[in-house]
Amino acid sequence: MKSINIPAVRQKFDLVCSDIAADKSISHRCAMFSLLSDKPSKISNFLLGEDTLNSLQIAQQLGATVQREGAEVLITPPAELGEPDDVLDCGNAGTGMRLYCGLLAGIEGSFVLTGDKYLRHRPMNRVTKPLRAIGAKIDGREDGNLAPLAIRGGKLKAFTYESPIDSAQIKSALILAALQADEISYYKESLLSRDHTERMLRGMGAKVHKIDDEKSEKFGWIEIEPLEQALNPLEMRVPADPSSGFFFAVAAAIVPDSKVVIKNVTLNQTRIEAYKALGRMGADIKYVEKENLYEPIGDIEISYSGKLNAIVVEENIAWLIDELPALSIAMAVADGTSEIKNAKELRVKESDRISSVVTGLEACGILTEEFPDGYSVTGGVLRQATINSHGDHRIAMSFTIAGLVSGMRVEDIACIDTSFPNFFEILSQITEVEI
Ligand code: S3P
Repeated sequence: MKSINIPAVRQKFDLVCSDIAADKSISHRCAMFSLLSDKPSKISNFLLGEDTLNSLQIAQQLGATVQREGAEVLITPPAELGEPDDVLDCGNAGTGMRLYCGLLAGIEGSFVLTGDKYLRHRPMNRVTKPLRAIGAKIDGREDGNLAPLAIRGGKLKAFTYESPIDSAQIKSALILAALQADEISYYKESLLSRDHTERMLRGMGAKVHKIDDEKSEKFGWIEIEPLEQALNPLEMRVPADPSSGFFFAVAAAIVPDSKVVIKNVTLNQTRIEAYKALGRMGADIKYVEKENLYEPIGDIEISYSGKLNAIVVEENIAWLIDELPALSIAMAVADGTSEIKNAKELRVKESDRISSVVTGLEACGILTEEFPDGYSVTGGVLRQATINSHGDHRIAMSFTIAGLVSGMRVEDIACIDTSFPNFFEILSQITEVEI
């Protein structure tokens, strides 16, 4: 098992990061949505992480031709998506599996989606149930909840669905299904979850929009019209992933007198809430918008400010769910007791992140309390410890960053390659890295 020893950083750092990994959510969508066009899609800065390369491989198995030179990818869709002659392996990616489920449910043919031992134990009924309700034929262990999932694609009925969970994966799976349904469908969530799917599909010519007429009984619902023709191809440069950049944001906020600039990152409001939370804790944060391609893109500058204060995080949880483990490291060195509430979704991520964070911080000598839907962290002195990542990339990277303060050994770090293959390369600009 691959491990890392990270020594405490001895001096301040001032880093400009132009090479933070490309956005994972957007890269997955590029691979999948290119299949809905009849012309080649040109993607640059595609994330070369295991998760998104798996989505690209699946696109290929479905009949697309993929020409890739480094992170430049040209995806030529087939005239018609075909039945693959093998299972479709999503690896560790919940996004890959859930979105492909929605896409394939409406395509004639037989498909089997599987994944690694972690993904095969994550709940899929949040998408398989509503998809089955509109006629999708999907089966798997626990009555369609656990992968491998066998899909027999076919005709789908339009739907009106109000999701009990604010999840971009559920929303995206259902939007992809709705594009192939027999009539107009409607989807509603209580908090806007990341909206890359709506923005990108709209950019490609799909009729997906939020009803903003307050007099309409469907005010606030997303209306999705079935596709009448192939969509326009995508042509885009994937921005940097704010969730990946956030590990270095926390590093700058906890190492005295340090500063980092995360370049060319998406500034979509559904993705930068963790930076806002770090700002509320006292770190200095500046945002500079530079362009708008499907969404606002720019730089975020984070500087150490002397002291971090405890905060309560209980709102807009879907906007910072992926960054909560890293934010918890800042909480561990802040003054006072921080709390995270309304975040039971953390229990079904790549690991049970409530348990992974709490056990990890306790091992580092930090006082925590676990709740069913969150936890509290009382800031103190971080101690060096040995941390198990539980095969979860964000747990591995969060505790590696904690090591900048105290030194740390993190075990089972291969998972970092799922989302941030050059994480250690960037980290080695701050401290010595011994793998
Ligand atoms: C994602 C949505 C979120 C997020 C995940 C990526 C996406 O999951 O945690 O890392 O790309 O749609 P949920 O939809 O389950 O909240």
